[in-house]
Amino acid sequence: EKGNYRHYMQKEIFEQPIVVAQTLQSYVRPFEGKIALPDIDLDLAGVNRVTIVACGTSFYAGMVAKYWIEQFARVPVDIDVASEFRYRDPVMEDGGLALFISQSGETADTLAALAYAKEQKQVIAAVINVPTSTMAREADIVLPTHAGPEIGVASTKAFTCQLAVLAAFAANLARAKGKMSEEEEADLVAHLREVPETLNQALDHDEDIASMAHLVAPARDVLYLGRGQDYPLAMEGALKLKEISYIHAEGYASGEMKHGPIALIDDKVPVIVLAPSGPLFEKTVSNMQEVAARGGKIILISDAKGIAEAGEGCMATIEMPEAHPLIQPIVYAVPVQLLAYHVAVAKGTDVDQPRNLAKSVTVE
Ligand code: F6R
Repeated sequence: EKGNYRHYMQKEIFEQPIVVAQTLQSYVRPFEGKIALPDIDLDLAGVNRVTIVACGTSFYAGMVAKYWIEQFARVPVDIDVASEFRYRDPVMEDGGLALFISQSGETADTLAALAYAKEQKQVIAAVINVPTSTMAREADIVLPTHAGPEIGVASTKAFTCQLAVLAAFAANLARAKGKMSEEEEADLVAHLREVPETLNQALDHDEDIASMAHLVAPARDVLYLGRGQDYPLAMEGALKLKEISYIHAEGYASGEMKHGPIALIDDKVPVIVLAPSGPLFEKTVSNMQEVAARGGKIILISDAKGIAEAGEGCMATIEMPEAHPLIQPIVYAVPVQLLAYHVAVAKGTDVDQPRNLAKSVTVE
């Protein structure tokens, strides 16, 4: 079943162009230049607040969506991990939509949070990969991902498919709220159609990234830095690395470095910086330079423009294609997945079945 791949995780990373395309097919009408959510008769114009709840990697997809929904639809978003959300008596007013994100649809904490939101009379939407799951049954609205079965314990293709659905959702909400014009929608549709090709370009760096594994594998600690919508990607990168390589890794908002974690930096700490060129680039690069000045060894993930500007002095660089903001995090997921994968392979860990982890966490 793994075909020519050595691990399910590797196979699932490489499936992403296909499964993301498959997922987008149910959300995008390319010939009309429209984004449409499947079979939903809900007027999103009435939604005045979104609450996102999930765990682990699905939570990081939700964090990206918070940036998108607030930026594009101008609707306030509250977000929490399910295990905290359900115990803090969150205030949920009428007119709110609660959005749950889960690959398995069986995560106990997320299910319990869903039950709470239902009691609070929220409209319940769920982004789910397993259509027959409990969560899919419990939700008012199911926004399916079509990633197919995910076998590797570390989530990869489910994550990028979740992002694709969430981008469509954010755009749809933005349209309903009158914050996105028809032209902008058509433009986004054109960009979404390019996602599979862009993901292929990202995957072309596989060998490159494999050759960097020895730079990270000996480390005891690794930091991932990102700003804005790349901050959750930094956390996802760190989670992937710690799950399968057992190296301690943390994702940080780049601006937070100087408020503490920079004390950890020395020449033994690889720092992975996610910084596409754009409005946040200069700020992230100055954070990166603070790290470099303290001997930190940087791997910069950026586009050609960003690498030309800031790549000098980095231990390594990974060049991603340029992409629309609603697509860029989907693309940057690939290099962080590949890096974690190759470091784990270099360390000889059990990539598909990392110690202490279960694919679906059905206890609270
Ligand atoms: C990370 C990972 C976990 C899951 C989390 C939520 O690679 O797989 O963090 O993302 O357990 O699972 P779902 O999405 O099934 O609710």
